Amino acid sequence: MKVLFVCLGNICRSPLAEGVFRHKAEEIGLEYEFDSAGTGGWHAGEEPDQRMQETALKYGIDISDLRARQFSDEDFDQFDKIFVMDESNQSNVLAQAKSSDDEAKVELLLNTLHPGEDMVVPDPYFGGQRGFDHVYELLNDTADRFFEQSK
Ligand code: 4NP
Repeated sequence: MKVLFVCLGNICRSPLAEGVFRHKAEEIGLEYEFDSAGTGGWHAGEEPDQRMQETALKYGIDISDLRARQFSDEDFDQFDKIFVMDESNQSNVLAQAKSSDDEAKVELLLNTLHPGEDMVVPDPYFGGQRGFDHVYELLNDTADRFFEQSK
């Protein structure tokens, strides 16, 4: 199973999702592969936002080695599942889909935790520390649910 997480910049939400899911998969012993990307390319090559790195470390997760990259339509061929953080990511990713199979891979991440509610992982970039902790809590709960369902 290969899972891609997509947000806008690939420096806050999606790298944390990648780190949290990878950490839990390793604990459980599941050989899933995780990656992340941003619909925008402005931060390509950069490490995750310092505030997100520090938030992750508080919970024992090191995301310092991740580097941002832009989502590409070839990602549809590489991944089984593409989790997006909000509706803007969703429409940008869907605009690059080449087939209904591609479209079927795309899902709002929080629908894993709250099926059918189309809730979003809020962008913490322009806010304070509380927003980063909130993103961690959402992603941590979602990862727990995701792996419960994978059993
Ligand atoms: P992300 O957050 O999409 O969670 O990585 C953002 C990072 C950068 C910007 C916006 C959102 N930006 O405007 O540069």
